[in-house]
Amino acid sequence: MSQDKSPRFLLSANELSKSFGGIKAVNNAKISVNRGSITGLIGPNGAGKTTLFNLLSNFIRPDRGEVIFDGKPIHHLQSYQIAQQGCIRTFQVARVLSKLSVLENMLLATQKQTGENFFRVWFQQKSVRQEERENKERAMAILESVGLIEKAHDYAGALSGGQRKLLEMARTLMTNPKLILLDEPAAGVNPTLIERICKHILTWNQQGISFLIIEHNMDVIMSLCHHVWVLAEGTNLADGTPQEIQNNPQVLEAYLGD
Ligand SMILES: Nc1ncnc2c1ncn2[C@@H]1O[C@H](COP(=O)(O)OP(=O)(O)OP(=O)(O)O)[C@@H](O)[C@H]1O
Ligand SMILES: [Mg+2]
Repeated sequence: MSQDKSPRFLLSANELSKSFGGIKAVNNAKISVNRGSITGLIGPNGAGKTTLFNLLSNFIRPDRGEVIFDGKPIHHLQSYQIAQQGCIRTFQVARVLSKLSVLENMLLATQKQTGENFFRVWFQQKSVRQEERENKERAMAILESVGLIEKAHDYAGALSGGQRKLLEMARTLMTNPKLILLDEPAAGVNPTLIERICKHILTWNQQGISFLIIEHNMDVIMSLCHHVWVLAEGTNLADGTPQEIQNNPQVLEAYLGD
């Protein structure tokens, strides 16, 4: 297998396959994300998009294939190690802890806590407190920027579905990501909030974060993405600019046949 270490790609995956019993959910698929880009991943229901995310982030082990992130293979790493490398994902159904506050959900994402180090106990207490204070300030600043600051001390369970998606996205920022994989950020979200989410994605992208976005909402894909990959029945159907994809008769056919 060729390991694609081209600096142009932040993420590239080749020959990825995963079967569940007799179903080939992902079958010899490839995908890449250019550094600094917002890349789309579309396809009819059941095409294998979420499974592909699960393989990229190693929530599910691929039967075969390789994933290169930032010049290094990551398919042998655990999910949390992939997140530590700067590749973090959200879920189709937002995973927030409902019985914790919005702020506590944000703080859970922070990594490499000094408190995990048992050395220098005397000094530690001061540095732990300082780190906690910094994390809290950072979390509050992010919540402010996404318009969730007034909800900081509410239970995450009291948020609307759209706000939960926003919180899950905001939480990824606590880990200083290079690439965020978003699984249907606009699904079940009202149009006003979709617009806000799109604006945040553009702002974060301008700050240097790359995105790979699964979405059925074509307006979102067309307005955000530099490049789009199309998956159908687990395999690559096409990739190109949003305009190329929109005018591709095979893509239209795959959707109409859905
Ligand atoms: N854990 C699993 N066990 C068995 N089959 C699965 C599992 N996960 C996915 N599948 C099957 O793999 C195929 C691809 O599913 P996947 O969820 O990846 O599609 P998708 O493109 O994300 O669809 P949607 O747009 O509806 O979210 C489907 O046939 C699905 O039923
Ligand atoms: Mg899915």
